[in-house]
Amino acid sequence: MSPDPVHYHQPFDSLHRDFFGLDTHYHLADGRIARRHYLDSAASTLALGCARHVADELLDHYANTHSDLHFSARIANHAYDWAHGQVLKFVRADAERYSAFFAGSGCTATLNRLARGLATRRPERDVVLVSLLEHHANDLPHRKHAGQVIHIPLVGAAPALGAVDLTALERLLEQYRDRVNYVAVSAASNVTGIVNPVHDIAALAHAHNAWVVVDASQYLAHAPLAISDTGAQERELDALVFSGHKLYAPGSPGVAVARRALFEDSEPDEVGGGMVDDVSLTGYQITARFPDREEAGTPNILGAVQLGAVLNVLQRLGMAQVHTAEQQRLRGLLAELAALPGVRIYGDPDLDRTPRLGTVAFNLDGWEHGLVAAVLNDYFNVAVRNGCFCAHPYVRELLKPELWALDLDPDDAMAIQRWQGMVRASLGLYTMDEDIEALLAGLRDLLARPDHYRALYQADADGNFHHRTFHAPATTLFDPDALLERALARLNVTADML
Ligand code: ALA
Repeated sequence: MSPDPVHYHQPFDSLHRDFFGLDTHYHLADGRIARRHYLDSAASTLALGCARHVADELLDHYANTHSDLHFSARIANHAYDWAHGQVLKFVRADAERYSAFFAGSGCTATLNRLARGLATRRPERDVVLVSLLEHHANDLPHRKHAGQVIHIPLVGAAPALGAVDLTALERLLEQYRDRVNYVAVSAASNVTGIVNPVHDIAALAHAHNAWVVVDASQYLAHAPLAISDTGAQERELDALVFSGHKLYAPGSPGVAVARRALFEDSEPDEVGGGMVDDVSLTGYQITARFPDREEAGTPNILGAVQLGAVLNVLQRLGMAQVHTAEQQRLRGLLAELAALPGVRIYGDPDLDRTPRLGTVAFNLDGWEHGLVAAVLNDYFNVAVRNGCFCAHPYVRELLKPELWALDLDPDDAMAIQRWQGMVRASLGLYTMDEDIEALLAGLRDLLARPDHYRALYQADADGNFHHRTFHAPATTLFDPDALLERALARLNVTADML
C-alpha cells in the first residue's frame, strides 16, 4: 500500500514541477537507467527554475554594487536592495527596526557573526542556552564565543524525543539569571524535522532579559514563520538566520535578519570596502547605513537576487498552502514507515503532539544506516543522507536506548562508529508521490531480501558500504573537464590552442 496521493491545484501544480534536476537519470547497479528520487532536501534543495531565470537575466546587466553611476550598476544595486526587501517581507520584519544581511554560503557564517557580536555586546552575560537538538552550526559558534554553553533538554524520552522542554528552559533562565546572554534554537531540527515553539521561547527569554537567536534554515522552505507570531514585541525573535541553499536557491548566500539595535554602535565583525563612509591613512569611519555596515566586500549579488525571487514566489504561493500539502505527504510517509517491520523512527512521530516538518530520520533494526542508504541509492535511485547530519550530540541522544541495548557506551565514538547514525528522508516542494513510493519500495525489498543485499556490499574501515562490483565514480556522471571542452569546441577553441 502507498500513501494517499497528494493533489495540487494551479498554480501550485506548475510551480512544483519548475525545478532543475527533476528529470535526472542515472545507471543503477542492476543495469537499469532510472530517474533520481531526490529526498535530501534537508541537506540542500533543488533550484526553482523561475527564480534562477531572474538571476540569469541579471547576468546581462551584471555589475558590482559598489559602483553606482552607470546603468548596470544602478540595476545591480536595485536588484540587490530588492533581495534584502524580499527577505524582510518574507518573515514580516519591521524594516525600521530590523535589517537583513547576507553572508557566507549557509547559516554558519551568520551564526558565527552573531555569536561573536552578542558576546562582545554583553560580556558580563557569559552563558548561552542552546537546545539539545541543534546541528553544529547553531552550537559550536556559541561554544567558541560564550563563556559557557548549557544545553536545554528536550521533552520525552529517546528515541521519541520532542521539542525543547519549556519548563527546563525556564528553570535554566532562573538558575543562570543575569548571566544568560541569549537562547539559541533551531525552528526545526535538521535530523527529525521537529519544530520548536520559537515564539514561546522568545517570550520566556525576554522575560529574563535574554535575547533569542533562531536558526530557521530547516523551517522557511516548509512553513510560514514571522519575526513575531502575534505581533507582540515580547514574542519577537531578536535574530533569525537561514540558508538560501535550503530554500530553492543553491549558490545563494546565508541570511541574517536581526534587530538593528544588536549591531549598531559596535564595530562590524568584518571590515573592508562598502561599509565605510571615509577612510584616511590613520583611520576609518564605519557607515551607519544598514545593511551596508554588515556586508564588507563585494556581495554575492546573483545568489541574493535568486533567493529574493524564490521568497517572492513562495509568498505569492502562500507558505500555509505549502505547509498543508507537505504535512499530508509527511503523514503518509510516517504511517507507511511505521507499518514496516523493524523500522525505528526518531523523534516523537505523533504529529498532533509534536509538530514536525518534512524530515524523517529512521533506522531498520539490525541494519547499518550506511548499508541502507547505499542500497537505496544503487538499486532504487533514492537519494537520502545518512550519518549524523552534523548534529552528533542530538543523534547520540536519540540513539542511546539502542546503543545501550547493544552494550555500547554512547560516548565511546570508536565503539559506536558503525551504529552511530541514521537514514534521513527529507521533502521539498517538488517531492512527488512516486518519490515516496520509490523509498518505500526500496525499504520493502531490502527487508524482504536481507542476505541478497548484504552479500553485495563490503564495509570499509570508516563504516561506509561499497558495492562489490558496481562502481559509479562521479567523473563518469559529471565531468567538468569534458563539459568545458565541449563548450570551448562550440567556440571553435580546442585544447591545443590554449
Ligand atoms: N545541515 C545540512 C544537513 O542537515 C547539511 O544535511
